[in-house]
Amino acid sequence: MQRKYPNLCKPITLGRVTFRNRMFSAPMGGTDITNDGCIGPKSTAFYELRAKGGAGAVTVSECMVHPETDGSHAYHLDTTILNSLACATYTADAIRRHGAMPSLELSHSGMYAGTYMTDKSKQKSMNQWGPSDTVRPDGVEVRALTKEMIADIVASYGRVAGLAKRAGFEMLMVHGGHGWLINQFLSPMFNHRQDEYGGSLENRCRFAIEALKAVREAVGPGFPIEFRMSGAEFVEEGYGLDEGVRIAQMVEPYVDLLHVSAGTYQRTFGITHPSMFTEHGRNVFLAAEIKKHVSVPVATLGGLNSPEQMEEIIASGQADIVYMGRALLADPFLPRKVTENRPEEIVKCLRCFTCMAERAATSTRRCTVNPLIGREMEGDEVQPAPVKKKVIVAGGGPGGLYAAYTAARRGHQVILCEKESELGGILKSEQALSFKHEMYELSGTYELLARKAGAEIRLNTEVTAEYVEKEGADALIIAVGSQPLVPPIKGLDGDNVVIVNNYYLEKDKVTDDVVVFGGGLAGCECAIHLGMEGKRVHLVEMRDALAPDANVRHRPLLLAEIDKYVTVHTGYRGLEVTKEGIICEDKDGEKQLVPGTTVICALGQRSRSDVVEALRDAAPFVRVIGDAAKVSTITNAVYWGYHAALDI
Ligand SMILES: Cc1cc2nc3c(=O)[nH]c(=O)nc-3n(C[C@H](O)[C@H](O)[C@H](O)COP(=O)(O)O)c2cc1C
Repeated sequence: MQRKYPNLCKPITLGRVTFRNRMFSAPMGGTDITNDGCIGPKSTAFYELRAKGGAGAVTVSECMVHPETDGSHAYHLDTTILNSLACATYTADAIRRHGAMPSLELSHSGMYAGTYMTDKSKQKSMNQWGPSDTVRPDGVEVRALTKEMIADIVASYGRVAGLAKRAGFEMLMVHGGHGWLINQFLSPMFNHRQDEYGGSLENRCRFAIEALKAVREAVGPGFPIEFRMSGAEFVEEGYGLDEGVRIAQMVEPYVDLLHVSAGTYQRTFGITHPSMFTEHGRNVFLAAEIKKHVSVPVATLGGLNSPEQMEEIIASGQADIVYMGRALLADPFLPRKVTENRPEEIVKCLRCFTCMAERAATSTRRCTVNPLIGREMEGDEVQPAPVKKKVIVAGGGPGGLYAAYTAARRGHQVILCEKESELGGILKSEQALSFKHEMYELSGTYELLARKAGAEIRLNTEVTAEYVEKEGADALIIAVGSQPLVPPIKGLDGDNVVIVNNYYLEKDKVTDDVVVFGGGLAGCECAIHLGMEGKRVHLVEMRDALAPDANVRHRPLLLAEIDKYVTVHTGYRGLEVTKEGIICEDKDGEKQLVPGTTVICALGQRSRSDVVEALRDAAPFVRVIGDAAKVSTITNAVYWGYHAALDI
């Protein structure tokens, strides 16, 4: 057959190992780690799904090489731990049996040991070891590793590499980027040593090269070794691309693949993990430049999820391999869809950071658009229902669409009814914000999947109890969503006011001087967009903080954008909307006019409880999901929709 993306689908050989394609799964921190430091069964299932989805290689993330001086990424390969080797073997095997090559990332977090601990206060009582004595910005003291300790860590790279090979891993990734220990040695920002491990670039590369040599010695020739590095650190005190090229050249003789990432976890999080405010593939230029100066294959990554873009990266010779992290959380089957010429079915990552924030909050994993993530063990295949039922889904937002898709996959007769003439629910409003376009496109993808699975979609159709009864439905999923909160504030019904959900319909009404009324997530994102468009934007928020409910990873990046584009007034209570702006009361009880000739009302949402109440007894099986049940996230709407459909 003629593949649409021949370059992505082309095998590649590294060392003596041939990988089935060029789409590799990036390391993503294990969340299910047993108390004695083994890879837990949920993590194994997570990696297995990536392999089933068709990736060429699946990287099992951050195996700590030297727990004595680390303690962050708390699993380890060690024959003195009863289950250690067995768990690693089961994991490698679960990947390999689906045709993907299992790779293990060897890591040491150095002075940032403890970063992922749930109880961060414990970091203070840990020993933090780095290249040099220092005090971290959070006040944690770091001590310089002695030469003896360095030698011991180097030896442990070899020891763990040997065990990984024994467990069945087919490749090893030595993590030299993102601000962890090897990167700390490479970087003039962290490394101030006076001995042979500091100073000149050659000295700063010494530790990396010693670790790579130890790994090679343990695994022998022909076994692929990959070096993950940051092409540039993107901070003034760190190294830039010129030095990144030289680092790549220094380590090249010891590796089979150079994996070029970017930045550091602690200082440039939104570059290392490109956020929705940056373009896709914003780090590809680093790999492309390095590739010009080395002869081993080079991999790139960072916000990649479009087959066209990834195909072009390889076709144009900018890189030989593309890695994806979040894109494969959103859709683990992306590589298979690419291979099978089904790109339109790919569910795209929204770069909303739910995945990373959930780990920080609860040590579990979630994805907004993929309800399976973190819960793969519960079964990643939708089983046909033993008894086929007639199911009505009321509401065509993300939760309703996902419920319809899932119920149809189970073989039920599904009718999804949407009151309006377009699907998408609250996602429709995202189409006007450039950085959220993928969120808007999500409903189109879900619609396609639901239709392909056999669901019938009826637009302009309001579901009433009579309608459900007339259809003779056995099950009803109520996904009617929420509606904007518009409190009885004088002037808020004026024609200079646009409700944030309607902004996409009334864009032309918005003047160049805007006040956004409400600093929740929707208000902040709309304010940023208007600022990006060149408008003068003020933001009024009664609370002291903006978007307090935004997740811990997205929020700092959001606030950085707010700083660029928006004048913020927190602690301001809006009293009246006039033609000149919003009259507010500040914290001292003084009246202030926040100026703007258009007001965007973004004061929150409330569930459509009246509709829910009217439908509660309309069918034998009734489930309320998403905002209709509780104003919440898309993550919950999709997750609840999926499970409602499984429960029918
Ligand atoms: C949930 C999550 C966990 C991650 N954990 C790791 C990790 O354990 N080790 C690592 O080197 N990188 C880790 N990363 C970074 C990714 O490997 C990747 O470099 C980054 O997400 C950029 O790629 P992407 O834009 O395709 O997601 C993680 C990323 C995510 C989203």
